[in-house]
Amino acid sequence: MTVVQGTRPRVNAGRLNAHIAALGDIGRGPGGGVTRLAFTAEDVQGRAYVAGLMLDAGLAVEVDAAGNLIGRRRGDDGTAPALVLGSHIDTVVNGGAYDGAYGVLAAVEVARVLHEEGVRLRHPLVVVAFCDEEGAHGTMGMLGAHGFTGALPPGFGDERDSRGITIADLLAAVGGDHRRLDEAAWTSDEIAAYLELHIEQGSVLERLGVPIGVVESITGRLNLTVTVEGVAGHAGTTPMEHRVDALDAAARVLLAVRSIAADEQIVLRATTGTCSVEPGMWNVIPGLVRLGVEFRDVTASALDDAVARLGELAQEIAKATGTQIEIGLGARTTPVDCHPALRDLIARCAAELGLGSHRLPSGAGHDAQIVARIAPIGMIFVPSTGGVSHAPDEHTPPDQLAQGADVLLSAVLQLDGGW
Ligand code: GLV
Ligand code: MN
Ligand code: MN
Repeated sequence: MTVVQGTRPRVNAGRLNAHIAALGDIGRGPGGGVTRLAFTAEDVQGRAYVAGLMLDAGLAVEVDAAGNLIGRRRGDDGTAPALVLGSHIDTVVNGGAYDGAYGVLAAVEVARVLHEEGVRLRHPLVVVAFCDEEGAHGTMGMLGAHGFTGALPPGFGDERDSRGITIADLLAAVGGDHRRLDEAAWTSDEIAAYLELHIEQGSVLERLGVPIGVVESITGRLNLTVTVEGVAGHAGTTPMEHRVDALDAAARVLLAVRSIAADEQIVLRATTGTCSVEPGMWNVIPGLVRLGVEFRDVTASALDDAVARLGELAQEIAKATGTQIEIGLGARTTPVDCHPALRDLIARCAAELGLGSHRLPSGAGHDAQIVARIAPIGMIFVPSTGGVSHAPDEHTPPDQLAQGADVLLSAVLQLDGGW
């Protein structure tokens, strides 16, 4: 490492913020929100923009078979494992400009500063924009990160999204290839550490007035599909006491889901995020309802406890309403801890930059939790104004974005020197 005390490089705050604004304009809707769902034309355009920035930063650019956009910088030691930095650039529907994009663009900025300042590293540096973190159109979410860690099952690709398009076709649209997924997989000995910088997406740091968050653990997440079967019928002629209304029962399920977190506190968070009603007409009593439910907690057993409790409550609701209720288990991500040494390193880097830090869990999911299968992970948070995220008003002040990126840069330099 050629950096000596007193000449510590810093990120270019103006350039970083300009890049965030420019990427945020790709997929920007009339109300100011950003819709850049994975695999769409907007995603392709965003990826091309980031690939250009990676080239400007002196990185060699490639897209792996799992659709991850990767920029690589060689290290002086040909045998040293890589320092990997990453996040995602896909968004939710009508989301913000910072979730994921900030982490990727800050990582590219770190690489660019190292490039411009001629700083040589012993380790290779790898920047990854992971594919489909958000789970566009009902896809699994963190799809690229699963591919990166070799966690996709053999033959993966035949599954379809909610529009009926196969994953194989989706991957092909961004330069991936489901037939070569094994080539996307990294192994533990190839990665020294993984760091992800992200907006907090909550209000803890802002309330405390602390600029840097040191993530201790990342929430686990379990998706369920609750199917409620009633009896469709005429909305005008069927007396109220003779109805078996699937939506009526589903509404009770929704309240039960909420109570499992809010009242019974079995899990930290419980959300019903989707609801489809069949046949879905004003004048027909709903015959079939599907609810998309999600539980989150930092303890894996709490997720199982929540499912068991929902099963009990669903049975009671089915009995009371004359419906049939089935609970189907969907995607699950296990809660993970960030590596203790990386937590300490991040706090130290912040302190050396004169920045206060606070340790906190992450209630949002991140690519880091998948990468944790094969590498030590560390996560840095910066405050989110008003705690808003997954919404158009997502915001972090520009100076705080630069501070987080400086901590990332500093952590890279210290990791390269040994940790
Ligand atoms: C990630 O975006 C999440 O939903 O936590
Ligand atoms: Mn998100
Ligand atoms: Mn994110």
